[in-house]
Amino acid sequence: MTDWTEYEERAAGSIAGATSLDVLEAARVDVLGRKSELALALREVRDRDTGMLLNGIRQRLEAALAERETTLADEELDRRLREEVVDVTLPGEELPVGSLHPITQVRRMVEDAFLGLGYEVRDDREVETVAYNFDKLAFLPTHSARSPRDTFFFDDDHVLRTETSPSQIHIMEEKQPPLYMVSIGRVYRRDAITATRYPIFHQFEGLAVDRGLTLADLKGTLLHVMRRLYGPDRQVRFRTHYFPFTEPSIEPDVSCGICGGVGCRTCKFSGWIEMGGAGMVDPRVFENVGLDPEVWTGFAFGMGLERTAQLRHDIPDIRALWEGDLRVLRQF
Ligand code: PHE
Repeated sequence: MTDWTEYEERAAGSIAGATSLDVLEAARVDVLGRKSELALALREVRDRDTGMLLNGIRQRLEAALAERETTLADEELDRRLREEVVDVTLPGEELPVGSLHPITQVRRMVEDAFLGLGYEVRDDREVETVAYNFDKLAFLPTHSARSPRDTFFFDDDHVLRTETSPSQIHIMEEKQPPLYMVSIGRVYRRDAITATRYPIFHQFEGLAVDRGLTLADLKGTLLHVMRRLYGPDRQVRFRTHYFPFTEPSIEPDVSCGICGGVGCRTCKFSGWIEMGGAGMVDPRVFENVGLDPEVWTGFAFGMGLERTAQLRHDIPDIRALWEGDLRVLRQF
């Protein structure tokens, strides 16, 4: 026969003496668990007095257990609050934050400027076929850029694109006008590395195809973009030029921001800085992509991102943009 008074005292003792939640749980299993003496006895109860006695013990032990559990949890919280202190006044660990390369910054500005005009932004392939890099752009068979002295050839039919202009052909073959796109990316030419030339560089190419476009639309578009890139006071002027895929072809200049157009070393004392090439889409190009030149008109332009970055930041030597020297790049 179990002495239930002694059982309760012993059980209450082990509950009160539990020093952690784990020990308390073990004590619970021992004195109140399904296989404890108390639980087994409760299952066998036949008379009212024994039932009241044993249930009373169980209720008191459960209450003691719950109380001990709260106490232990509080103590545990106190301990952690004391030991795992965070001093919020200490200076944090500094995370090394990089910055975008100036070419990437300029690229994003160009994208923003054209997205604002409703243009779509494209990213075309850098390995091109002769058909897209030259033929469909109406380069004459004798054009010097077709020579392996000027252009990197893989074989007779494949080159590293020498300009972003093949994007004009790609989009006109893919979609029907009206088209407004800007294509940005790397281009390659067999130039020796100097302060102003590098065999890899970036261009952004614009193309608009619609009904009734004129040189005035081209000029207005370039003026808007140049002012977004270089500031609201810039002027744009056109000089006549030649490109195989535009007619008329022009070279746009932007007024020099360093001297305000009076003349200085940056603009070679002309007051103007060359920006690239542009013109009205040549009817032959429209024919090459199956568009009727009597119906559609268009303008196109191509400019260098390195040039743009150099002008924005006064970077005298293009090589600085390719060397990845952190002392240079951290300044942007
Ligand atoms: N693709 C020409 C170049 O790289 C620039 C250009 C683009 C000219 C579009 C006219 C129209 O020199």
